[in-house]
Amino acid sequence: MTAEKPAVLCVDDEQVNLRFLEAVLVPRGYRVLRAENGKIALDIIREQKVDLVLLDVMMPLIDGYEVCRQIKESELYRSIPVIMTTALNSKDDRIKGIEVGADDFISKPCDQGELLARIKMLLKIKSLNDRLNSAYAKINSLTCFGEEIMKTFDPLNFDFLSKIDTVVGQIIRRADEDIEKPQIIVIGISDKDRGRQWFRYGYNCGTLHREVFPLNLHRCLVTSGEEPRTSFTNIEDIGSSDIQPILKMVEATGTTVSNVVSYHSIDICIHAFNYGGDVTGYEASVLNSIVMQSLFLKSLSSQVRETENAFEYLVYALARAAEANDEDTGNHILRVGEYCALLGRQLGMSEKFNSIIRLQATLHDVGKIHISPAILKKPGKLTPEEFDEIKKHTIYGGNILGEHVRLTLAKNTTLAHHERWDGTGYPHGLREKQIPFEGRILNITDQYDALRNQRTYKPAFDHVTTFRIITEGDGRTLPCHFDPDILRAFKAAASQFEEVYEQLRG
Ligand SMILES: [Fe+2]
Ligand SMILES: [Fe+2]
Repeated sequence: MTAEKPAVLCVDDEQVNLRFLEAVLVPRGYRVLRAENGKIALDIIREQKVDLVLLDVMMPLIDGYEVCRQIKESELYRSIPVIMTTALNSKDDRIKGIEVGADDFISKPCDQGELLARIKMLLKIKSLNDRLNSAYAKINSLTCFGEEIMKTFDPLNFDFLSKIDTVVGQIIRRADEDIEKPQIIVIGISDKDRGRQWFRYGYNCGTLHREVFPLNLHRCLVTSGEEPRTSFTNIEDIGSSDIQPILKMVEATGTTVSNVVSYHSIDICIHAFNYGGDVTGYEASVLNSIVMQSLFLKSLSSQVRETENAFEYLVYALARAAEANDEDTGNHILRVGEYCALLGRQLGMSEKFNSIIRLQATLHDVGKIHISPAILKKPGKLTPEEFDEIKKHTIYGGNILGEHVRLTLAKNTTLAHHERWDGTGYPHGLREKQIPFEGRILNITDQYDALRNQRTYKPAFDHVTTFRIITEGDGRTLPCHFDPDILRAFKAAASQFEEVYEQLRG
C-alpha cells in the first residue's frame, strides 16, 4: 500500500514565490496546495487534509499572524505545523510569530536545503504526535469497550464466538475513515469437540460479515506447551511470513495483503490484515490486550460454570438423600422443579427466576430426612400425633437450609409449600400474600404431583381427574387453597404439566 503524499499548503500573495515552493517541493514527493491570501488558506484548511503550512507574513486582507492565530486556536487544526516565511528578520516579528503559535520560521529568500530539512523535521514530529493522539484515543475507546463488556458479562450464558464477534466489530475497519484499523480479520478457534474452526471477518455494504473460512490446517500454528505470542509483518517480509496457507487463502478471495498482525495460541489464532500504514509492535500489543481480555472472560466463565455445576449437583444430591426415607415417588422432585419453571414462565417470570426455582424447588421436602420412615411409609391413616410430626418437615427443612443467600428461594419453598391461600395450611397458617410467592407456586405443583401418584392413603389419579380435583375440589383439596392468579396459570398450562409428568415418570 503506497503512503499518501504529505500535503503542504503554501500561502503567499506573490505568484513567483508560490511557483518557487512548488518547484522545490513537488519533486521531493510533497503535494502542494496553493493559496494567494489568508482567506483562501483558511478555506483550504477547512476543506482538505493539510499536513503543514508554509505561511507568508505580509499579505493583504488577513496577514500571516492572523491566519496562524486562527489555525492554532482551532481544536481541529492546531496540530498542523506552521512555518512562517518572511523577509522580516527582526526579533520583535519572531516574538509576535511565537505568540500566535508558529512552530518555525524561515527567512526569505528561502534556502532550499534548510526549507526541506525544516519541513521534514516538523512532519516527523506531527506524525509522532498524531500516533500518540490516536493511541490515546484507542486506549480510551478500549477502556470504554472493556467496561461495557464487563457490565454485560454473563458468565453462565457466555458464548465465546459471539464475544469474538463483538471484539472484531470494535477493531476492524468499518469505513474509509478507520484507515488505521485492519481491513480483514481471520480467526481460528479451537473447540474441544469440533477441532479448529476458521472464520473470516470483513465489512461489506456497511455490515460486518463473519463467514466460515474453509482452511484445512491440520498442523497447528502453535504447538502445545508453547507460550502465546504476537507478531507483525509488513509488505517487504510478507513472503517469508510463517502464515503462508492463511495468506494464500486471503489473497484467493481477491485481497492483496500488505501487512498482518497476528496473535497465536493453542485456543485462538487471530490474523488482522491490511492496516492503513506499516504495522509495528504497537498494533501487536493492542491486538494482544484485546485477545487476552476475551480469553480472560472465557476462562472466568468456565470457572463460574464449573462452580455452578457443582452447586447444582450438590442441591440434587441433598434432595435425593432426603427422599431415601420417603415413599417411592419416582422423579417427584425433578417433576416438581419442572412444573415450577413452567408456571414461572406462564406467569411471566424471568428465565433466571425460572431456572432457580427449577433447581431449588427440588429441596422442598429436605426436612423429611428428620422424620422416621415408619411414619413416612406407614400404610393407612396417620394418628394426629404422627401427622403433627410430618408437618414438622417444613421447619426441619428450613433449619437444614439455613441462611445462605443462594438458598433463600429453597428455604422459602421448604417452609411454605404446605401453606394455603385461605390460611388452612401449615406450619404457620399463613394466608394469601403472607405466603412467599415461590411457596404458593410450589403448593400447587406439589399437589398436582402428589395426586398423580399413588400414596399410602390414596390411589394414583390420571391428569383429567387431578385437574378436576385442583380446579373444582374434592372435599380434601379445594381451589381456595391456591393463589387465584397461580391457579389461573395452572389451568392455562395444564396440558404441559401432563407432558412433564409423562416425560419424567421415573
Ligand atoms: Fe412437603
Ligand atoms: Fe413434595
